[in-house]
Amino acid sequence: MISQPLARQRAAVDNARRIVPPARMNYHHAFHAGNFADVFKHVILLGLLDALRAKPAPFCYVDSHAGRGSYDLGGDAAQRTGEYLGGIDRVLRAERLPPALADYAARILAYGMDADGRLARYPGSPLLARECLRAQDRAILCELQAEEAAALRALMHGDARIVVHERDGYAALKALLPPTPRRGLVLIDPPFEAQGGEFTAIEQALTPALARWPNAIYAIWYPIKLRETIVPFQRWLGALTGAADVVQAELLLHPDNSPLRLNGCGMAIINPPWQFDQALAQWLPSLTTLLAGDAGGARHRIEWLKR
Ligand SMILES: C[S@@+](CC[C@H](N)C(=O)[O-])C[C@H]1O[C@@H](n2cnc3c(N)ncnc32)[C@H](O)[C@@H]1O
Repeated sequence: MISQPLARQRAAVDNARRIVPPARMNYHHAFHAGNFADVFKHVILLGLLDALRAKPAPFCYVDSHAGRGSYDLGGDAAQRTGEYLGGIDRVLRAERLPPALADYAARILAYGMDADGRLARYPGSPLLARECLRAQDRAILCELQAEEAAALRALMHGDARIVVHERDGYAALKALLPPTPRRGLVLIDPPFEAQGGEFTAIEQALTPALARWPNAIYAIWYPIKLRETIVPFQRWLGALTGAADVVQAELLLHPDNSPLRLNGCGMAIINPPWQFDQALAQWLPSLTTLLAGDAGGARHRIEWLKR
């Protein structure tokens, strides 16, 4: 028999995992571009794309929640939150970086530096991925918001390797997988406006996606606020049937016990490249120290959920 407080806690988590779509999407990534979560996510993304590029066989990159592809750091949204100051700005100010972070920083500077030597623009995941595509590779980019999708389409215009869809990325995973070529990577990077319900939506999308394209790498970004809202998703990943391995990396700047702020974030990776946990371990501790600044208690974690 479970105790009453435990039963209440479980009921609260179940309730939080219901999909309740927001009446209107308020999310705009421009407020968050280049923040600590983007840095963490994009360094991992580059590592995964590097692993795919290690073999000459073509690959396909699928971005289910692509965003607009490029963000103006001098614009009103980025300046209002200043979130990039706690993210990319700290990385670019660091004196010494491990190779993966140095490579990421070089790419960001190459794209975003203005004539005065300031970082004016920050690239989103589709643009970082495009820089990694070779002639034989392909990309499928999905974005639901019309304005963001139009900006993304304009950015990718003329690149025959890339298709932009203005549509629901979850439904697209079911409809468009497996792509050609049949080697590749899916990035799932939702806004989590539906909070815990987003995990349920991810699970519902991953089930047919994995059935159709079982050997792809899937990288799923998630925010860390209250730990107990994440645990059921991690259990779900750990119980995936089939041959999939699952590793997760987490970066925590604050304790994971407050629903009111972004305390950290994680990336769950299904079918990671060989020894990807070791690749993560080469830079995640340095990044954690760098991004923590004066905040005590920052932590990172690399853990196999299934192997
Ligand atoms: C976190 S941002 C993506 C950032 C981008 N992946 C990057 O790293 O640069 C999430 C994006 O998903 C879009 N979005 C929200 N719900 C969506 C859905 N169901 N399908 C596709 N895109 C969606 C939002 O408009 C937003 O641009």
